[in-house]
Amino acid sequence: MAARFMAACVGTFIFATAQAQEATPHKLANVAILATGGTIAGSGATSTTTVGYTAATVGVQQLINAVPELKSAANVTGEQVFQIASESMTNDHWLKLGKRVNELLTQNNVDGIVITHGTDTLEETAYFLNLVVKSRKPVVLVGAMRPSTALSADGPINLYNAVLLAANPESVGKGVLVSLGDQIHGARDVTKANTSTPDAFRTPELGMLGYMQGNKPYFYHVSTRKHTTDTEFDISKLDSLPQVDIVYGYANMNTVALDAFLAAGAKGIIHAGTGDGSVAAKVKPGLTDARKKGAIIVRSARVGNGIVARNGEANDDQLDFVVSDTLSPQKARILLMLALTKTNNTKEIQRMYYTY
Ligand code: DGL
Repeated sequence: MAARFMAACVGTFIFATAQAQEATPHKLANVAILATGGTIAGSGATSTTTVGYTAATVGVQQLINAVPELKSAANVTGEQVFQIASESMTNDHWLKLGKRVNELLTQNNVDGIVITHGTDTLEETAYFLNLVVKSRKPVVLVGAMRPSTALSADGPINLYNAVLLAANPESVGKGVLVSLGDQIHGARDVTKANTSTPDAFRTPELGMLGYMQGNKPYFYHVSTRKHTTDTEFDISKLDSLPQVDIVYGYANMNTVALDAFLAAGAKGIIHAGTGDGSVAAKVKPGLTDARKKGAIIVRSARVGNGIVARNGEANDDQLDFVVSDTLSPQKARILLMLALTKTNNTKEIQRMYYTY
């Protein structure tokens, strides 16, 4: 008798608790949407125009209005930071965006940020922010591979998922995230791996972090490299970034581009070498001379995956070169720019490539 009575009491308690939870309105997180342009804000001549459209034509409020479901995902606000096709992104844009993100994240009424962005340089902006955002609050970059006017435009669902991701406590402390196509990628290792298909964003060998499914994130990995509040970089007092350029390696390569970059005042050169960051015999003297004149030389690789081994394809110790670890040339450039705001010491810079 007593057991049955106890069971009834427990059952009533569980039911009442569930009722109470349902009755208590779920407090929505406050998510700021910062718009910068790109295809997600693009428009095409017809509903079947998926290439040859105009990027960066639709404003942030129009993007938000196009997804009324956002109201159930978070309390969203919109801000147009700038409106560009992302192939035209500059260091000045990055500094403006990074400072605005850090300013907003100090506010108690901002729980997370979504940045709508063109996909061409989205991975670069994400990595830059991964190194300079000084908060554990979620920052999610989102784009689209089809313009808003296209059949099966992916922008609205990508934006909806990005807001859900930025609003979710599980996203806190994971570094800057990138979300398109129901996937969650980390800023350090994600890349745009296709010119035009909706599944263009991938983290080929090191793996994406998880999925968006059924209005919530499912995380399976976290990055082992330092980011956001754990980095040593501070852009708050910077008005510019040191000039760093990329020299691309290929058969029959020459030093014309290298010489031009150095003549224009490059403080650092990323060498996107063939294979394991290899340097052509007729290019090595140019790099060696540049190093002797003070430029920082980082050996990266055009290959896309794998570690560029220190002292592998060049005697880095003897030449005083740095290697980029697994960072792509375009991301190695970002880290070197920020490194040069702190030091010219190659041992310190090499440490940074093994830390971030
Ligand atoms: N112009 C490209 C950009 O803004 C369009 C690509 C896109 O956003 O998907 O990055």
